[in-house]
Amino acid sequence: MQTRLRGADQPADLPEGRSTPLVVAVIGAGYVGLVTSACLSSLNHMVRCVDIDPTRVESLRAGRVPFSEPGLPSLIQDGVNDGRLTFGVDAVEAARGADIVFIAVGTLDGAGRWTDRHVRAVLETLLRGPEVPPLLVVRSTLRPGRMSELHELVVASGHSTTLLLNPEFTKEGSAVADFLAPDRIVIGVPAGSTAEVADPLLELYRGIDVPVVIADHASAELIKIGANAFLATKITFANELARFCREVGGDMAAVRRGIGLDPRIGPDFLRTGPGFGGSCLPSQVDLLAAMSDELGLDAQLLPAVGRSNRAQAARIAREILATPPAPQRVAILGLAFKAGTDDLRESPAIRLLEELHARGVRDMRAHDPAIDALPSHPSVEVSRDPYTAARAADILVVATEWPQFHRLDWVRLAGLVANREVYDTRGVVDVDAATAAGFRVRSLERGPRAGGAGERSAARNVA
Ligand code: UGA
Repeated sequence: MQTRLRGADQPADLPEGRSTPLVVAVIGAGYVGLVTSACLSSLNHMVRCVDIDPTRVESLRAGRVPFSEPGLPSLIQDGVNDGRLTFGVDAVEAARGADIVFIAVGTLDGAGRWTDRHVRAVLETLLRGPEVPPLLVVRSTLRPGRMSELHELVVASGHSTTLLLNPEFTKEGSAVADFLAPDRIVIGVPAGSTAEVADPLLELYRGIDVPVVIADHASAELIKIGANAFLATKITFANELARFCREVGGDMAAVRRGIGLDPRIGPDFLRTGPGFGGSCLPSQVDLLAAMSDELGLDAQLLPAVGRSNRAQAARIAREILATPPAPQRVAILGLAFKAGTDDLRESPAIRLLEELHARGVRDMRAHDPAIDALPSHPSVEVSRDPYTAARAADILVVATEWPQFHRLDWVRLAGLVANREVYDTRGVVDVDAATAAGFRVRSLERGPRAGGAGERSAARNVA
């Protein structure tokens, strides 16, 4: 197997300039598929995006995007207006005459379990079609090891098509920018083939000047999932180190800055909080832990990361309720799993809310700039502004790092919050303004014994 690693220290052999427009089909108009489709069409390629759900396709044709992602609606609109981006329901039809077909369908079932059923079904459909495209590219995240099984299906079909893996590294809230200016492009090729089989994909990305890593399928699978597992570990490490920091009277912001300046560590993903959430990090850490069990790999670290992360919300809930007078009415600011999105999947804010409920708090209101209602928790009243949510609450709990929460009117809040107390799990509150208005500010970053020498940093913890 010839594996080429193209890094910054090696001559990049991505072709110069912009690519000639290619015809691309993207199967799946979910989060990954839509971002891929819109961004490729903005690079001048002709993109046919397909989804099994005709209602979703109709909405997309009318310019309605089913989730919030900055920059995506306008990119879709531009593509549709220019005729470079079309939507349909027929995968075989879209693949006809396409240079490249991306498979970007879901890999978690309704109960959050990993499944390659949908990817496999799309692949089988395409392989049975009248005209099998020369290049099939999996964009979905799979359980490591699955790509070689899918490759076997291609080999068994007798077609000369190539199956590649091209994992995405986009973050919700900045997915368009991450796609168009990524840190790296990773391409997984079948074991035993040469790196040249990836050339058409490099042509597609021509003009995006970044290091390219071409490796066998299994390595590319582990680059994707390994990156997320490492990020999850870093966050968990920060949350644990912050507890030591508070105990001895330190300031976690100063500690983060001090350790993050070491280039071997770096400052990113060391922000403390109620734990990592979303549709990617928790499920991928759990997947590696489960694989370790199944395969007898004796992994110790990743199962512990998952456990520590799940326990974080309970720790915070205990602390909120430990100081007398224990609050009865809690206003939660932030519900999404992170700022910049309306995504509630595996949201640590929801975990925190549930932990408070389990400990007897029955009166909970909430506000999130991107969320109007919480049907999964009907007893939680969601307000359109933070001040309505705060009215007659005993305590405010900041659970998502929306920058708006740095600019709250603390004088106004002082007249609304009975105990004048705020627990800031994200370090986003303007501590000086809140303190001046009479609030007691508690955070994960500084304990009651913290000295004054550290940076006043809750406010500087915003990404
Ligand atoms: C993550 C990865 O960051 C992307 O690179 C990857 O492409 C994506 O998963 C994926 O696999 O599709 P995302 O799920 O959008 O992206 O969210 P992150 O920005 O990674 O945040 C995950 C969680 O960690 C959030 O709950 C966030 O609030 C939390 N977090 C993040 C912290 O608590 N502290 C930090 O310092 C950073």
